[in-house]
Amino acid sequence: MTPTVYVLNGPNLNLLGTREPQVYGSQTLADVERLCAATCERLGLSLVFRQSNHEGALVDWIHEAGRLHAEGGLAGVVLNAAAYTHTSVALLDAVKGTGVPLVELHISNVHARESFRHHSYLSGVARAVMCGFGVRGYQLAIEGVAQW
Ligand code: DQA
Repeated sequence: MTPTVYVLNGPNLNLLGTREPQVYGSQTLADVERLCAATCERLGLSLVFRQSNHEGALVDWIHEAGRLHAEGGLAGVVLNAAAYTHTSVALLDAVKGTGVPLVELHISNVHARESFRHHSYLSGVARAVMCGFGVRGYQLAIEGVAQW
């Protein structure tokens, strides 16, 4: 079975391209999906790429990735939980409960921004944390997952 990378995106990331371009750049989520697809194709990985503004949908998708993980088919989860990073015990529990190998990803350098962005519920259960590389970080994260 070809190993699969789940790239999951949280709230407001559907607005990429027009949302605070000075922070997040001018590329759209569709551009990010194309970048991830090209990266996965080059590395021989399957890609599941999704975005939701709803916390529970992200929880459900982590559970789905967890079932694949239990079957031995998951390469890893790259999660940009966006604002839920800083608020969501439910996402923390989903990662803990499934044991999925996780990259916590942020487009911006959250540590150079407002103090409420400095705390993450996910960092303590992530295998890796990446921030500040812009949308190129998605490619770098997938390359990292491919080497786990
Ligand atoms: C973000 C950083 C978060 O603090 C913010 O709420 C986002 C995006 C990033 O990719 O830089 O929505 O996760």
